[in-house]
Amino acid sequence: MSLITVRNGYETTDGLAARENLHRAFSAGGQNFRAWELQCLKWVIERSKIVVDVAAGRGSFWTNALTQRSIEWRKKTLIACDVSPAMTQVLAGLAPNRLLAVRCSMDDLPFKSESIDLLICHSALHYSTDPLQAINGFLKALSANGHVSIVVSGIGNMQELHDFFELGRYGVDLSERPLMRFNEVQMDALVQSISFPIEVATKVVWDSALRIDEAPPVVEYFASHPEVSAAKMFLEIRRDLLHRLNERLRADGSISVRRRQCHYLISR
Ligand SMILES: C[S@@+](CC[C@H](N)C(=O)[O-])C[C@H]1O[C@@H](n2cnc3c(N)ncnc32)[C@H](O)[C@@H]1O
Repeated sequence: MSLITVRNGYETTDGLAARENLHRAFSAGGQNFRAWELQCLKWVIERSKIVVDVAAGRGSFWTNALTQRSIEWRKKTLIACDVSPAMTQVLAGLAPNRLLAVRCSMDDLPFKSESIDLLICHSALHYSTDPLQAINGFLKALSANGHVSIVVSGIGNMQELHDFFELGRYGVDLSERPLMRFNEVQMDALVQSISFPIEVATKVVWDSALRIDEAPPVVEYFASHPEVSAAKMFLEIRRDLLHRLNERLRADGSISVRRRQCHYLISR
């Protein structure tokens, strides 16, 4: 079976909304993912003038970040990029006076060398054709004392749900999704092989937990994956998943799920 390419999955923004809805329910130490990723970066943002977010998606990082009144956003140049025209259109409408939207690939950035103070690439490096080359490109674009901020999926991220889905034997191999192929393990190894002279690479982990006691958000999460929504048996898969999840919840009361994300900050 051939997998649908990533870009097909991002032709519209619908799928992202369903996935983000479930992600939003997780928290670690009372902090949701968006609050955590901003906290990891706030001090870097404060000292950066030019900030570029590559593979920015629907701009959810910015929807949250721009509400932080303590940061002097007006003094900064903020650019959000994505390869998908649909995402770029959403980015353009997000904060037209603050955030400039650019359509480009993280594998071929259109920025001058040594021009960016902070380059953000969150939850997207697994879509690069060559993550090591992409990071070397990010570092090349950094100004002196600049930073690259990367978030990748941690080992075992939402594994319980993926296992549950696979048990349905739907003929859709979600373990082959790029997210599973490039995660924390590969990123740890990649940091060792960066060719640029880097000063520090720090890693901070967000290990969150969620007790799921209703089926629909999980069903929507899986139904929105491009591989699933493009499947011929889509309606049957959706109905069966809902049925099996409800059965499981009736039997066990809830399903406990972990979500692990890793933040890497690399500086020159
Ligand atoms: C999971 S979303 C992450 C969005 C955002 N960074 C966030 O944290 O919410 C992945 C995004 O990567 C984009 N993408 C995929 N391949 C890309 C590429 N080669 N260059 C730039 N963006 C890409 C997709 O269009 C999608 O919007």
